[in-house]
Amino acid sequence: MIPNQWYPILEAKEVGNGKPTGVRRMGEELVLWRDLDGNLVCQGARCPHKGANLADGRMKGNTVECPYHGFRYGPDGACKAVPALGSGARIPGSLRVPTHPVREAHGLVWLWWGEERAEADLPDLQIAPVVADNPKAHATTHWTRPVHYTRYIESLLEFYHITYVHRDHWFNYIDYLFLYGTARKLGLDGKERYLAATKIVNHKLETEGQTLRYSFDHQEEADPRNTTHYVITFTFPCQVHVQTEQFEATSWLVPVDDGHTEHILRWYEYPAFKPLLRAEKLRRVLPWASLYMEKWIQDVQDVRIMERQEPKISEGGVSKFIPVDELNAKYLAIRSRLIQEAAAKAPPAGETAEAAGPPAGRPAPANGRKAAGAAANGNGSGGGNGSGSGNGSGTAATVPASRAR
Ligand code: FES
Ligand SMILES: [Fe+2]
Repeated sequence: MIPNQWYPILEAKEVGNGKPTGVRRMGEELVLWRDLDGNLVCQGARCPHKGANLADGRMKGNTVECPYHGFRYGPDGACKAVPALGSGARIPGSLRVPTHPVREAHGLVWLWWGEERAEADLPDLQIAPVVADNPKAHATTHWTRPVHYTRYIESLLEFYHITYVHRDHWFNYIDYLFLYGTARKLGLDGKERYLAATKIVNHKLETEGQTLRYSFDHQEEADPRNTTHYVITFTFPCQVHVQTEQFEATSWLVPVDDGHTEHILRWYEYPAFKPLLRAEKLRRVLPWASLYMEKWIQDVQDVRIMERQEPKISEGGVSKFIPVDELNAKYLAIRSRLIQEAAAKAPPAGETAEAAGPPAGRPAPANGRKAAGAAANGNGSGGGNGSGSGNGSGTAATVPASRAR
């Protein structure tokens, strides 16, 4: 996982219906809720008392209440009530949960995963204009798959696999017909054209900051009239935008942990149907259908391949790339650089012992979490809060970059 980045973790509408929302991302159990002013709060879900999951609890005033013994935590992470000690009890300041910076934008909740920084020092969200300023009606959903995010991202940075992986499901006839068929043959040549286009030509890669833009033509060698022009815009850490003349979609491939990835998929209205459908609601019907087609058909076909790929994690040197894999290669190179840069900046204390390479599957605990956990195992008086806390706006969790995969 690349530290010091904003990751979308959920749709904003999923948080704040009077209940805490639990989610696993970046190898951590998190709880999300809204305070009484409607502000989004994201915290480590592990109760420092005895480790119950706060997402199983309930909202109580401006706090989230643990389901086990009713300890209550405020938006700043501090424990506000310990019912077993009575209302007048002095609560140790160290009894608190780590609070992570989150933002809401473009219908998603974005989590800052990385070093602790003051709110003003956090960078802006990295969202390419093709996504941030996209005026098209769209629909969004998400699902979890048992693959490492590098393999998932890799599968969306090239499209010459489609004629092999997506050749055989009966449902693909919808793609064949609508996206590849010709009017002259009433779409009946769709499958033929789809499977005949196997070559990638005119490929061009441009890099601008954290964004990589790759354009290419997917073409039938014997008949270049059968060509689909693609533009893939990848923005670190995990956003893939795909655009052709026929369709447009954005994927966010967000680490759940080292063995799982959340695929948040947004599908946009089809340009061909826009003039026919006036109401925005109607213009979202076909994108919805496409999301579920992707979720249950095409994405399942991709995952079937990815689950059996070796090694599970893609990084420099594990693949024999060909020239048209240049976007894959660039992604891995920049990913590696960003991880190294974050590691170079990470605080030297304690955590750096594992800088040489942590075992996969190891979560990257926040300092606050770690301290509280240590206290729970120790004298029960609550833990310290790592590096700084109590600033009212909550404490950003520090993630040792060296543990990131
Ligand atoms: S485990 Fe949360 S209050 Fe006891
Ligand atoms: Fe695919």
